[in-house]
Amino acid sequence: MSAKPWGGVFDGATDPRVEKFTESVSFDHRLYAQDVRGSIAHANMLAAVGVLTPVEAKQISVGLEEIGGEIAAGTFAFRQDLEDVHMNIERALIDRIGDVGRKLHTGRSRNDQVSTDFRLWIRDTIDQIDALLTDLQRAFVQRCGRDEGVILPGYTHLQRAQPVLANHYWLAYCEKLQRDRSRLADCRGRVNQLPLGTAALAGTTIAIDRQMVADSLGFEGVVANSLDSSSDRDFAIEFAFVLTMIAEHLSTWAEEWILWSTCEFNFLQLPQAYCTGSSIMPQKINPDVLELTRGKTARVVGNLQALLVLVKGLPLAYNRDLQEDKERVFDSADTVSACLELAAAVVAGAELNREAISSRLEHGYLDATTLMEYLIGHGVPQRSAHEIIGRLVASAMKQRMPLAELPLAEFQQAHSALDEKVFNVLGVEHAIAAFQSVGSTAPPKVAEQVASWRNHLGC
Ligand code: ARG
Repeated sequence: MSAKPWGGVFDGATDPRVEKFTESVSFDHRLYAQDVRGSIAHANMLAAVGVLTPVEAKQISVGLEEIGGEIAAGTFAFRQDLEDVHMNIERALIDRIGDVGRKLHTGRSRNDQVSTDFRLWIRDTIDQIDALLTDLQRAFVQRCGRDEGVILPGYTHLQRAQPVLANHYWLAYCEKLQRDRSRLADCRGRVNQLPLGTAALAGTTIAIDRQMVADSLGFEGVVANSLDSSSDRDFAIEFAFVLTMIAEHLSTWAEEWILWSTCEFNFLQLPQAYCTGSSIMPQKINPDVLELTRGKTARVVGNLQALLVLVKGLPLAYNRDLQEDKERVFDSADTVSACLELAAAVVAGAELNREAISSRLEHGYLDATTLMEYLIGHGVPQRSAHEIIGRLVASAMKQRMPLAELPLAEFQQAHSALDEKVFNVLGVEHAIAAFQSVGSTAPPKVAEQVASWRNHLGC
């Protein structure tokens, strides 16, 4: 038997530098459990269609389980000269059970095997990331009990805009994470199609039963075109994109909370277990977890970019370039999982500095838009109301006071509809209570949303 599983046609040895250059086992060993699962399903199918005897299929499964157990225990020695995890496992099987092991690769190729293993791995990882997203949503929803009634300034352009309930803020992140979960679920459907049996690129002349393998591995269907499948990495790129959106969401949240925890904002106390100090400045408590969450987004974006560039010039069907996909996907999944896990802990452990927030709530004219809408309610066209309130705000700014401290006479002068009842809508507490629309920060609407999230997440 030649040293390489593909060595028959070769008349000389491979340059060791080529072995080092072309190997993937140093990273695709992470697919070992999926490879074992896929091969066992394949062997059982080969027995069902009469290519293997039941005894042979059993010998193969037992051998594969044993190898899987050794890899899990860390006692298996991977060989670089066998290129990848797939050929390492197959060779180990042949070494253990002899010629029967040489029948396993019937009706398949590494091309469909790699794609199958990778899809199984991504499917498992999608489920894990969905659980981490749910944990983070729960952390936000669980804040809603203790932050009930807290009002924060809402921003546009990072300038004070309108007041919002803290709970409205927390649920904003739940919505973003819910879209991520929905994208994951959608991507999962396309990942969960079985390529095994499409073989190298054209299928096989052996009468295999692909549906049986799909059923036993929990795939929703079998891919229809072998050429397409052999070249297809859409499923991996889509997954990398969904991970990128998650990273983007986490990054914007991290940026916001970094700002909020500054002395200048002073909105938030981060839990110290998730901060680190300075080697020179004794007073420092830095938000490094949040900074690295923001920073690591760069590599997740980079991985997606690398995958898109990787496939852009590839003719049908399989090309070895595709081996470069795994490290990028593994790295994005590892990075996003680590960020999500810590994000849930930071969200749960942070405390709002209520005093500091409320003492400055009447700065920045957060109630100006509510006042404008009050005037609209008295029949003034929006553009005119905007102009009138703009002038009142300018006057209040000059006098360095909030709108609620302007004298009634000034309101009356601005518009006759602005009588003493105007003081019932001024001030942030009043302003927040005036909201009504669906999806707004109106306290009853937010309470409904909190209840619906609690119900949805069971928390
Ligand atoms: N380790 C390779 C990969 O991950 C498998 C190569 C299979 N095909 C081939 N024709 N060399 O893509």
